Amino acid sequence: MAIRNILKQGDEQLLKRSRKVEKFDERLHMLLDDMRETLAQSGGVGLAAPQVGVLRRVVVLLDINKEPEEVVELVNPEVIEQRGEERRVEGCLSVPGVYGYVTRPTWAKIRAQDRHGNWFEREGEGMVAQCFCHETEHLDGHLFTEKVEEYIDPAELSGDNEDCVE
Ligand code: NI
Repeated sequence: MAIRNILKQGDEQLLKRSRKVEKFDERLHMLLDDMRETLAQSGGVGLAAPQVGVLRRVVVLLDINKEPEEVVELVNPEVIEQRGEERRVEGCLSVPGVYGYVTRPTWAKIRAQDRHGNWFEREGEGMVAQCFCHETEHLDGHLFTEKVEEYIDPAELSGDNEDCVE
Protein backbone atom coordinates (compact mmCIF):
# COMPACT_ATOMS: atom_id res chain seq x y z
CA MET A 1 0.00 0.00 0.00
CA ALA A 2 1.07 3.55 -0.58
CA ILE A 3 0.01 7.02 0.36
CA ARG A 4 -0.99 8.97 -2.72
CA ASN A 5 -0.61 12.68 -3.27
CA ILE A 6 -3.88 14.61 -2.87
CA LEU A 7 -4.45 17.13 -5.67
CA LYS A 8 -5.37 20.64 -4.66
CA GLN A 9 -7.87 23.13 -6.09
CA GLY A 10 -6.44 24.61 -9.28
CA ASP A 11 -5.51 21.18 -10.66
CA GLU A 12 -7.71 20.58 -13.65
CA GLN A 13 -8.05 16.84 -12.96
CA LEU A 14 -10.44 17.85 -10.16
CA LEU A 15 -12.81 19.42 -12.69
CA LYS A 16 -13.11 16.39 -14.98
CA ARG A 17 -15.81 13.76 -15.00
CA SER A 18 -14.58 10.36 -13.83
CA ARG A 19 -15.25 7.20 -15.81
CA LYS A 20 -17.25 4.21 -14.65
CA VAL A 21 -15.26 1.26 -13.29
CA GLU A 22 -15.72 -1.82 -15.43
CA LYS A 23 -12.89 -4.08 -14.29
CA PHE A 24 -12.88 -5.24 -10.69
CA ASP A 25 -9.29 -6.35 -10.83
CA GLU A 26 -6.04 -6.11 -8.88
CA ARG A 27 -5.47 -2.58 -10.14
CA LEU A 28 -8.77 -1.42 -8.60
CA HIS A 29 -7.96 -3.21 -5.35
CA MET A 30 -4.60 -1.49 -5.19
CA LEU A 31 -6.25 1.89 -5.79
CA LEU A 32 -8.78 1.22 -3.02
CA ASP A 33 -6.06 0.07 -0.60
CA ASP A 34 -4.00 3.17 -1.33
CA MET A 35 -7.04 5.42 -0.97
CA ARG A 36 -7.86 3.85 2.42
CA GLU A 37 -4.34 4.51 3.60
CA THR A 38 -4.28 8.03 2.17
CA LEU A 39 -7.63 8.84 3.83
CA ALA A 40 -6.49 7.47 7.18
CA GLN A 41 -3.36 9.57 7.08
CA SER A 42 -5.20 12.73 5.91
CA GLY A 43 -7.50 13.12 8.90
CA GLY A 44 -10.45 13.60 6.51
CA VAL A 45 -13.65 11.57 6.31
CA GLY A 46 -13.91 10.96 2.58
CA LEU A 47 -11.75 10.72 -0.52
CA ALA A 48 -12.65 10.37 -4.19
CA ALA A 49 -10.28 8.86 -6.79
CA PRO A 50 -10.00 12.06 -8.87
CA GLN A 51 -8.49 13.69 -5.76
CA VAL A 52 -5.53 11.35 -6.19
CA GLY A 53 -5.46 11.94 -9.94
CA VAL A 54 -7.35 8.80 -11.01
CA LEU A 55 -10.43 9.62 -13.09
CA ARG A 56 -12.47 6.59 -12.03
CA ARG A 57 -15.73 6.47 -10.07
CA VAL A 58 -14.25 5.24 -6.79
CA VAL A 59 -14.71 6.63 -3.27
CA VAL A 60 -13.63 5.67 0.24
CA LEU A 61 -15.31 7.22 3.23
CA LEU A 62 -15.55 6.87 6.95
CA ASP A 63 -18.99 6.04 8.35
CA ILE A 64 -18.66 7.78 11.71
CA ASN A 65 -22.23 6.85 12.67
CA LYS A 66 -21.09 3.25 13.16
CA GLU A 67 -19.45 2.07 16.35
CA PRO A 68 -16.59 1.46 15.73
CA GLU A 69 -16.25 3.74 12.69
CA GLU A 70 -16.32 1.83 9.42
CA VAL A 71 -14.36 2.49 6.22
CA VAL A 72 -16.72 2.13 3.26
CA GLU A 73 -15.58 1.50 -0.31
CA LEU A 74 -17.92 2.74 -3.02
CA VAL A 75 -17.39 1.86 -6.66
CA ASN A 76 -19.67 3.54 -9.24
CA PRO A 77 -21.74 5.15 -6.46
CA GLU A 78 -24.97 7.01 -7.06
CA VAL A 79 -27.17 8.83 -4.57
CA ILE A 80 -30.57 7.27 -5.25
CA GLU A 81 -32.70 8.81 -2.51
CA GLN A 82 -32.44 11.75 -0.16
CA ARG A 83 -34.58 13.45 2.46
CA GLY A 84 -34.58 16.62 4.49
CA GLU A 85 -32.26 19.56 4.34
CA GLU A 86 -29.76 21.04 6.75
CA ARG A 87 -26.94 23.53 6.66
CA ARG A 88 -23.68 21.86 7.51
CA VAL A 89 -20.07 22.94 7.84
CA GLU A 90 -17.99 21.42 5.06
CA GLY A 91 -14.38 21.26 3.98
CA CYS A 92 -12.36 19.29 1.42
CA LEU A 93 -8.93 17.67 1.42
CA SER A 94 -8.35 19.31 -1.96
CA VAL A 95 -9.20 22.78 -0.62
CA PRO A 96 -7.19 22.87 2.61
CA GLY A 97 -8.04 25.42 5.28
CA VAL A 98 -11.31 26.48 3.63
CA TYR A 99 -14.64 25.82 5.37
CA GLY A 100 -18.15 26.92 4.60
CA TYR A 101 -21.84 26.20 5.13
CA VAL A 102 -23.47 23.99 2.52
CA THR A 103 -27.08 22.78 2.44
CA ARG A 104 -27.18 18.99 2.40
CA PRO A 105 -29.85 16.31 2.88
CA THR A 106 -30.31 15.05 6.46
CA TRP A 107 -30.55 11.49 5.12
CA ALA A 108 -29.41 9.84 1.89
CA LYS A 109 -29.26 6.40 0.33
CA ILE A 110 -26.49 5.39 -2.00
CA ARG A 111 -26.21 2.52 -4.48
CA ALA A 112 -22.73 1.30 -5.29
CA GLN A 113 -20.59 -1.73 -6.10
CA ASP A 114 -18.02 -3.25 -3.79
CA ARG A 115 -14.47 -4.10 -4.90
CA HIS A 116 -15.71 -7.35 -6.42
CA GLY A 117 -18.53 -5.77 -8.41
CA ASN A 118 -21.43 -6.71 -6.12
CA TRP A 119 -24.13 -4.04 -5.92
CA PHE A 120 -25.33 -2.87 -2.50
CA GLU A 121 -27.22 -0.01 -0.95
CA ARG A 122 -26.28 1.95 2.12
CA GLU A 123 -28.01 4.67 4.10
CA GLY A 124 -26.42 7.55 5.92
CA GLU A 125 -27.54 10.40 8.13
CA GLY A 126 -26.01 13.76 8.91
CA MET A 127 -22.33 13.83 8.12
CA VAL A 128 -22.49 10.52 6.25
CA ALA A 129 -25.30 11.78 3.97
CA GLN A 130 -23.25 14.94 3.46
CA CYS A 131 -20.22 12.85 2.55
CA PHE A 132 -22.18 10.69 0.04
CA CYS A 133 -23.12 13.90 -1.78
CA HIS A 134 -19.72 15.59 -1.54
CA GLU A 135 -17.84 12.53 -2.84
CA THR A 136 -20.18 11.73 -5.72
CA GLU A 137 -19.91 15.38 -6.78
CA HIS A 138 -16.12 14.96 -6.97
CA LEU A 139 -16.73 12.15 -9.49
CA ASP A 140 -18.55 14.64 -11.71
CA GLY A 141 -15.79 17.22 -11.42
CA HIS A 142 -17.46 19.44 -8.84
CA LEU A 143 -15.97 20.97 -5.70
CA PHE A 144 -17.94 21.97 -2.59
CA THR A 145 -16.87 25.59 -3.02
CA GLU A 146 -19.47 25.84 -5.82
CA LYS A 147 -22.13 25.24 -3.16
CA VAL A 148 -20.83 27.24 -0.22
CA GLU A 149 -23.41 29.71 1.05
CA GLU A 150 -21.16 31.34 3.62
CA TYR A 151 -17.46 30.86 4.35
CA ILE A 152 -16.27 30.38 7.92
CA ASP A 153 -13.10 31.56 9.59
CA PRO A 154 -11.30 28.29 10.54
CA ALA A 155 -10.44 29.86 13.91
CA GLU A 156 -14.17 29.82 14.73
CA LEU A 157 -14.56 26.08 14.15
CA SER A 158 -15.23 23.98 17.20
CA GLY A 159 -13.68 20.54 17.63
CA ASP A 160 -16.97 18.98 16.50
CA ASN A 161 -16.41 20.34 13.05
CA GLU A 162 -13.12 18.62 12.43
CA ASP A 163 -15.04 15.73 10.88
CA CYS A 164 -16.21 17.80 7.94
CA VAL A 165 -13.17 17.53 5.67
CA GLU A 166 -14.04 15.39 2.68
NI1 NI B 1 -13.58 16.79 -1.15
